[in-house]
Amino acid sequence: MTTTGSPWQRVDSWFDEVSPVPQVLQDAQRAADDAEMPPIAVSAAQGRLLRLLAGAVGATRVVEIGTLAGVSTIWLASALRGPDAHLTTFELDPAHAALARANIDRAGFGSVVDVRVGPALEGLAGLAAERPDPYDLAFVDADKPSNPAYLEAVLPLLRTGAIIVVDNVVRNGAVADTGVDDPKVVGSRTVIEAVAARPDLEATVLQTVGVKGYDGMLVARVTG
Ligand code: SAH
Ligand code: DHB
Ligand code: MG
Repeated sequence: MTTTGSPWQRVDSWFDEVSPVPQVLQDAQRAADDAEMPPIAVSAAQGRLLRLLAGAVGATRVVEIGTLAGVSTIWLASALRGPDAHLTTFELDPAHAALARANIDRAGFGSVVDVRVGPALEGLAGLAAERPDPYDLAFVDADKPSNPAYLEAVLPLLRTGAIIVVDNVVRNGAVADTGVDDPKVVGSRTVIEAVAARPDLEATVLQTVGVKGYDGMLVARVTG
């Protein structure tokens, strides 16, 4: 058992002993580390939450903003069942997208996942123009100042009952400190306020601790 680090790091490590991280996800995270990608992918505990939320709404179609190396993508793709399973994910950085593509293919989700390279707002406009079938879940995890714009862009793509998860909205508590004007914090604060103001969404913010420190996720549902 791991005995070093903060209590929440030790508890995340213990969870990983109780319920081992699937090999395909260990491999994907190792490839990201070897390529010196920033260490900001969802933790295993967070990835499990994404997977169980997708399973809970019976998701077949997921849209993701911010792919990095495809770790969260693989957690989400692993929840999707049936011939209509599909995940569209947007990534700005071609090197990130290439590593994600390789990780996703190796994990066995090559035919399920569409990695689209470029600025996500442009990509989302292009996707909307294709009039796709409605999506069941959106995971928003790219550049934080754009969070309010991402909310507006994904809402027309979602069915009633769909789930929206926005990562990293607590940022060590800075979200509640109105004196903090870091654009990353402002983007997260503004998207929380925007969700709260909409009558067609219900939502909560889950504050989280773990290997990634103190942060949190906005979880919303489209009530219609
Ligand atoms: N969801 C991933 C982590 C994403 S990190 C996981 O948990 O495994 C954030 C990613 O968003 C980075 O790869 C970054 O290149 C990408 N990104 C930043 N700005 C973007 C933009 N405008 N459009 C699309 N992707 C963007
Ligand atoms: C950062 C981005 C993330 O998506 C994350 O989960 C953690 C940190 C960042 O840009 O600092
Ligand atoms: Mg994140």
